Amino acid sequence: MSRTRVGVLVSGRGSNLQALLDAARAPDFPAEIVVVLSNIPGVAALDRAAAAGVAGEVVPHRDFATRPAFEREVSALLEDHGVELVCQAGFMRVVTGGFVDRWRDRLLNIHPSLLPAFPGLDTHARALRAGVALHGCSVHFVRETVDEGPIVGQAAVPVLPGDDTEALAARVLAAEHRLYPLCLGLVASGRARVEGETVIYSGVTGAQGMLLNPAGL
Ligand code: GAR
Repeated sequence: MSRTRVGVLVSGRGSNLQALLDAARAPDFPAEIVVVLSNIPGVAALDRAAAAGVAGEVVPHRDFATRPAFEREVSALLEDHGVELVCQAGFMRVVTGGFVDRWRDRLLNIHPSLLPAFPGLDTHARALRAGVALHGCSVHFVRETVDEGPIVGQAAVPVLPGDDTEALAARVLAAEHRLYPLCLGLVASGRARVEGETVIYSGVTGAQGMLLNPAGL
């Protein structure tokens, strides 16, 4: 089986990167992580890449006069590593249309909310303020508008009485670590692909039933 060559873009802690690295250790996982690229030097995500024996690259965005110039360097390095599919995993840079077009339908992002609710930052605090009963995370193909694009998968978690942002963030993060490898597997194997501006699936059975919160409704 030929595995899809994946580059992961990071900016920090890299716990989602770790989930992808762990999943890719399975011989039947349809993707391999060939490079991890950070826009910030010295972040923990780069240590995780090194520990997994995966190449690390640093492209400090501050070294570039413009966003497109930064992105051209990122793309060139990804291409040097033969990357076919790119995963943003806690990559805290907004990308331009040029980058989106270059990696059209080959660029995934994970976002800590049930999109289209709560695009942008501080999603957990905003979810608590809004009083939603269900929160979660989304993996989607990247488009020029931030946190928009065809959704590959979502995981919902309940908001529980007494939650603060830390508790809610931790619950969502655990869901992210399950969701991202599943979605990457679907895309890398061709079981999820973009048609029009929607993701269509083959050989995937949907989850059954309803998720209710508060429970027992
Ligand atoms: C994750 O919660 C991810 O969804 C979020 O940053 C965190 C990175 O954690 N991404 C965004 O907010 C993107 N706008 P990690 O570095 O431990 O994976």
